[in-house]
Amino acid sequence: MLLTSRQLVAAIKAIHYAYPGLLLCYFVLALMVTVCTLQTQRLRVQDQHVRRDVILGLMFGVTLSYLAELIVLLIQVIVSNESPPEDCTVYLIASTICFGAQCLALTDSKFPVWYPYYVTWFLGLLVELILLVIPNVFAPPETPFAFTNIVIQSIRVCFFAILPSLYFALRNDKKEYDNGDAERQSLLQKKLSGKPGSEDSTKSYGGTTDTNNQESDNSEASDAGSEDSWLARQREAEDKIKKRLEQDGNWFTYARGFAIFFPYLWPVHDRTLQFRAVLVGFCLLASNAFNVLVPTQMGRMIDSLTGYLLEEDPTRKPNVWIPVAVYALLRFVSGGAGIGWLKKWLWLPVEQYSYDALSTASHAHLMSLSSDFHDNKTSSDLTQAVHGGRSVTDLLETVCFQVLPMFIDLAVAFAFLWTLYGPYMGLLMASTAVTYLYVTTKLYSRRAAKRRDYITIYRKEWTIGQQSLDGWNTASLFNMIPYERHRYACAVKEHMSSKKDYEMSSQAIGAAQSLILSIGLLGALWLGVFQVVYRAESIGKFTTLLIYWAQLQSPLTFFASMYRQISYSLMDAERLLELFQTKPTVTDTPNAKALILGKGLVKFDRVSFAYDERKPTLKCVSFEVPSGKTVALVGETGGGKSTILKLIDRFYDVKSGSISIDGQDVRDVTLDSLRGKIGVVPQDPMLFNDSIMNNLRYARLTATDKEVYEACKATAIHDKIMSFPDGYNSKVGDRGVKLSGGEKQRVAIARAILKQPEIILLDEATSAVDTETEQLIQEGFKTLCKDRTTFIVAHRLSTIMKADHIIVVMNGEIVEKGTHDELLHSGGKYHDLWSKQIFVKPSPTADRSRSSSPKKRDATLVNDLTPQRQTKELAKVLKTIPHDQQPGEDNTGKKDGKKAECSGHKREVSLTFE
Ligand SMILES: Nc1ncnc2c1ncn2[C@@H]1O[C@H](COP(=O)(O)OP(=O)(O)OP(=O)(O)O)[C@@H](O)[C@H]1O
Ligand SMILES: [Mg+2]
Repeated sequence: MLLTSRQLVAAIKAIHYAYPGLLLCYFVLALMVTVCTLQTQRLRVQDQHVRRDVILGLMFGVTLSYLAELIVLLIQVIVSNESPPEDCTVYLIASTICFGAQCLALTDSKFPVWYPYYVTWFLGLLVELILLVIPNVFAPPETPFAFTNIVIQSIRVCFFAILPSLYFALRNDKKEYDNGDAERQSLLQKKLSGKPGSEDSTKSYGGTTDTNNQESDNSEASDAGSEDSWLARQREAEDKIKKRLEQDGNWFTYARGFAIFFPYLWPVHDRTLQFRAVLVGFCLLASNAFNVLVPTQMGRMIDSLTGYLLEEDPTRKPNVWIPVAVYALLRFVSGGAGIGWLKKWLWLPVEQYSYDALSTASHAHLMSLSSDFHDNKTSSDLTQAVHGGRSVTDLLETVCFQVLPMFIDLAVAFAFLWTLYGPYMGLLMASTAVTYLYVTTKLYSRRAAKRRDYITIYRKEWTIGQQSLDGWNTASLFNMIPYERHRYACAVKEHMSSKKDYEMSSQAIGAAQSLILSIGLLGALWLGVFQVVYRAESIGKFTTLLIYWAQLQSPLTFFASMYRQISYSLMDAERLLELFQTKPTVTDTPNAKALILGKGLVKFDRVSFAYDERKPTLKCVSFEVPSGKTVALVGETGGGKSTILKLIDRFYDVKSGSISIDGQDVRDVTLDSLRGKIGVVPQDPMLFNDSIMNNLRYARLTATDKEVYEACKATAIHDKIMSFPDGYNSKVGDRGVKLSGGEKQRVAIARAILKQPEIILLDEATSAVDTETEQLIQEGFKTLCKDRTTFIVAHRLSTIMKADHIIVVMNGEIVEKGTHDELLHSGGKYHDLWSKQIFVKPSPTADRSRSSSPKKRDATLVNDLTPQRQTKELAKVLKTIPHDQQPGEDNTGKKDGKKAECSGHKREVSLTFE
């Protein structure tokens, strides 16, 4: 019987120690699973509110019952002057923490997932029943304290019994979705709300403050309009994460999406680097160990010093130098010159590997993407995405070097303090850490809105300052300098006031954090002093405690910034991931062969194409260009001429039909061989911000200076370039801004000549060049296009007339094709365009306006014929026009035609269609 009761006491002690700890572990793990699998996001059932509130009240009651029992125990200790049973105290304190944490978690979750809670109720009911019945049966209560405890325990057991019954009784199976609340809840809130930059719970990104409140909706909408671009990007990234989370269903699958980065982050093919990374892992564990060893050694050193002073027998005095030497060694090894340096040295090549691999891979990937992607993205988006590589490595480093060590540190601290200073110290540390983390998270999420305002206002001030400086000229012209000064001064004031708000709230967070840590330290000091005074513990142990406690602050402080750091990196990583997941639409087929060019016969066979499915751009276009011939594409603006050229060198692939060159479908040959044989002068040529020489050589890096000069002479730009102060070494500016439109076009043509292509695509190559220069360039064209299949999109009559074939493109369709004479005689669309153009009203400004701005033209064709040629052509046109439609004597057209004839000048004139 004695043995049995001993065993019983031991069993109860074991329950006291294990029960709250195990319950808390289960609860935390289960809660993490619900968050990571997004179960909290899917529940939006209306009845949850009532049930949650009632259950919360009962759980609060449970927590209070533990606290009440603890107070009874304290009174008992004071009255009886006996030390309390340790297992009992631990059980009560730990249970209060465990159920207190559950209450906090339930308060915070609007739509709780219940299983982490109700499993604890069942376990609680079971354990509490055992604790209520068995000890009282074996040792019936005698003191009033014991009776009070029985009452409290019974109430608690009742609570535990009611909790599951209420949970089931109040369940409402009618799944009504509370959309209002769903709108208000940010899906990322759980994960990201802790970070500054996200919204607080009442006003979150992408949500509305009140779905019924029209006014607030409007103000949100207008806010969004004036939203700072940085914040807009943040919001966009958050939305992307949210969307992918919804698709993936949980954070685990979501995180798996990043597996695409694995080969770039982990040196898969480099064993040395892998070995280094593993060693870094050991270094991290060693750092965790040093965090404990250094304060412990400090304690030993103090103890040996105290022992030395207290020992009166000189022969038995301890050697104080050994602990000092060990301490010094530990400090050295654990510091920046020891393990810190080693860690960095080992990690640096791994870090560089991942940056190198990610940056080059993302750049290469960007370069491999097709026109549809590049036409739709801004350059800042692209650079941002590429620099996302840095964020991915940052994310990895934060998780591996800071988050994991932080949790290891905290777990080690708990175990260390429990073993060395008893369970109270362990519990004190745990409750300090939990309170600190909870309060910090809450306060940070409250400060988020202030931070967002502050950033917006700060950037506004910067923008106003920048704009007024950039616009100094305009401000001076309009005498608005005082206005700009005032505007900037107001922006600065606004910035300062919001900064004050933001900094004060940061200060308040700092104060709260420091308060919690100080209270924790006070408790630890009290326990430490108590142990030294009443339990005769050594001073060294007390010193260890002090140093260790102070050291614990750093992982906790890091936690505050962890959310922000991780969520920002995650957003950047998301952008990069999106980029990696975008696949090029125009690629080589698996069996693609090199293009074998014979004569260069280009054939369009019922080609249809659309940039956007909703609006066809080309509709069933068919034509054939015999080898070595020149075809001119004419037609209205936006008709699809440039698109036809883009399809030939596969900037886009046709949606249906086919394009073939010498019988080979362009989709079946390699892009490299195709583009290598085609020379293009685009409508709006782009030059690199480099010297003219380098821009020209871009076509053929091996071209000699002489070849470059020849090409430039052919396009009548050589002399012009030579007249620049730096000649061929002159920088052309961003996208070639330092050159005039005509100069830029001529450089682009020279570049095409240098490439020596087999097929030539000229998209309004000379639109910005005046007529006289064009006559000079024509010689260059002759060399360039001789015996080569050439496509010319042109507006000038002289150029069009020189073409072997003319194709009239209107609204994505070929309305006519044939030679110039055939088309004129057929009296169709080409004839119309031609006749309207030939009866021109000369406009002295036309030539200039066309040269300066090729895009701002009124006519589809431009008359640049010589007077003689014009008369000849006029005769042809008149023959085909019915008499009553011919222009009369006083017809402006005819008169103007004469005028043009009389002027004796070659003159390019434009005509507004009447
Ligand atoms: N990258 C693009 N994305 C979407 N639509 C486009 C794109 N490029 C052109 N388009 C549209 O396709 C149509 C045909 O454009 P295209 O550039 O081929 O016309 P165009 O005949 O060359 O006109 P212009 O004489 O003015 O150069 C136009 O309506 C244009 O808005
Ligand atoms: Mg065009």
